Amino acid sequence: MTKENLYLCMGSACHQLGVYEVLPRIQGLISQYHLEESIELKGSFCLETCSSGIVMKFQDKLFVDINPANLEEKFILEILPQIQLKMQEYSHG
Ligand code: FES
Repeated sequence: MTKENLYLCMGSACHQLGVYEVLPRIQGLISQYHLEESIELKGSFCLETCSSGIVMKFQDKLFVDINPANLEEKFILEILPQIQLKMQEYSHG
């Protein structure tokens, strides 16, 4: 199965909002939900929504307003369902 990229914005605005604090925790969530086989976490250049908090991108979906405090909630409620949807598509061929 090809891995899908999950992008975390590493642009300067997101950097200032604490990307480096968020990054290891996303890695932790990826392993907690056993997504290592399906997801590749990558840094991205500015995703051009700088005024909306830390930004992540999965396929063509942007997840904005992420911060160290709401990261886990955002991941579970918004990002994880998208990833699982994609994984289901794969497993059904
Ligand atoms: S720096 Fe992250 S969206 Fe611009």
